[in-house]
Amino acid sequence: MKVLVTGGAGYIGSITSAELLAAGHEVIVLDNLYQGHRAAVPPEATFVEADLADRGALARLFAEHPGIDGIMHFASYTLVGESMEKPFLYLRDNVVNAANLLEAAAANGVERFILSSTANLFDDPERMPIAEDERIVPGSPYGESKAMIERLLHWMERVHGMRYTALRYFNACGDTPGRGEDHDPETHLIPLVLQVALGQRDHISIFGDDYPTRDGTCVRDYVHVLDLAQAHILALGALDERGSSRYNIGNGEGYTVLEVIETARKVTGHPIPSIVGPRRPGDPATLIASSDALRRDLGWAPRHPKLEDIMASAWAWHQSHPHGYADSE
Ligand SMILES: NC(=O)c1ccc[n+]([C@@H]2O[C@H](COP(=O)([O-])OP(=O)(O)OC[C@H]3O[C@@H](n4cnc5c(N)ncnc54)[C@H](O)[C@@H]3O)[C@@H](O)[C@H]2O)c1
Repeated sequence: MKVLVTGGAGYIGSITSAELLAAGHEVIVLDNLYQGHRAAVPPEATFVEADLADRGALARLFAEHPGIDGIMHFASYTLVGESMEKPFLYLRDNVVNAANLLEAAAANGVERFILSSTANLFDDPERMPIAEDERIVPGSPYGESKAMIERLLHWMERVHGMRYTALRYFNACGDTPGRGEDHDPETHLIPLVLQVALGQRDHISIFGDDYPTRDGTCVRDYVHVLDLAQAHILALGALDERGSSRYNIGNGEGYTVLEVIETARKVTGHPIPSIVGPRRPGDPATLIASSDALRRDLGWAPRHPKLEDIMASAWAWHQSHPHGYADSE
């Protein structure tokens, strides 16, 4: 298929683009390089530098690249904490950017759409692991923006017959030899811990150790970026037959912050000093995905479920790219 990947210069989008190409698809990447890196875009992909806020640029993209079969929409403001400080980057810009994309897609007859959604839809889960029928209580303007985009998709299907899959990722992590996680600012635990191992930070901060978990630190479900990429490709292939759906995606197993740090110590051989501080507002104690529906419907099975393997893949990339893509640009 001919697939438009928005945010394909970013972490998950670039790795999914590479996997799409390896699976024989044609890829057009749209990215404004706000967080992404030109060097992350696979050379076999067509790259269009444009902002989703620019409707003229979107119209030109679809005119110049007719026959797009499907869209994977990764491009977004992505930071929960930032969204509490600048809510309208999320409640307005994330939503309007998605609406611009969907309007152009519908005008050009695109029938398939995959959305990067989030576990931040579930701030106050009643059951663990979290299944798709859990009530949606966004934990931040970021999560709310994804909930709103899921609603846009509902109406795109009703009005235009566009089929969609919303994949609600839990914690994306891990890298591949050629592409990895390089955000500025970095807010994710695994790259931050590895920056300590590289000597770029003195210590890792732990936000609270008084949660009702096995060691008092927050529990999260870490899923390898390649397993996320696989889910996107399976979802795209299944849309015509199965129709629209929403899936939670994680390994179904949770690790505490202390367990992640301990795994990093084991993998890197570095002592990784840590300092415990107060809780961060808005962090639920435990978030673990039930991916039963994804496994059942699409035959998804994570190929890299072990935290140690995930950590080793990230450590390999961070060692070969200690300054991220600045080392290859
Ligand atoms: N990383 C995670 O753990 C995680 C978890 C849940 C959901 N998600 C979602 O997955 C998606 C990808 O996350 P990521 O970690 O790869 O983020 P990322 O920041 O690495 O990638 C996003 C890309 O989108 C681009 N972009 C942003 N705004 C744009 C715009 N207006 N026009 C064009 N391009 C724009 C950025 O330059 C960047 O390359 C996001 O939608 C994010 O909300 C990520």
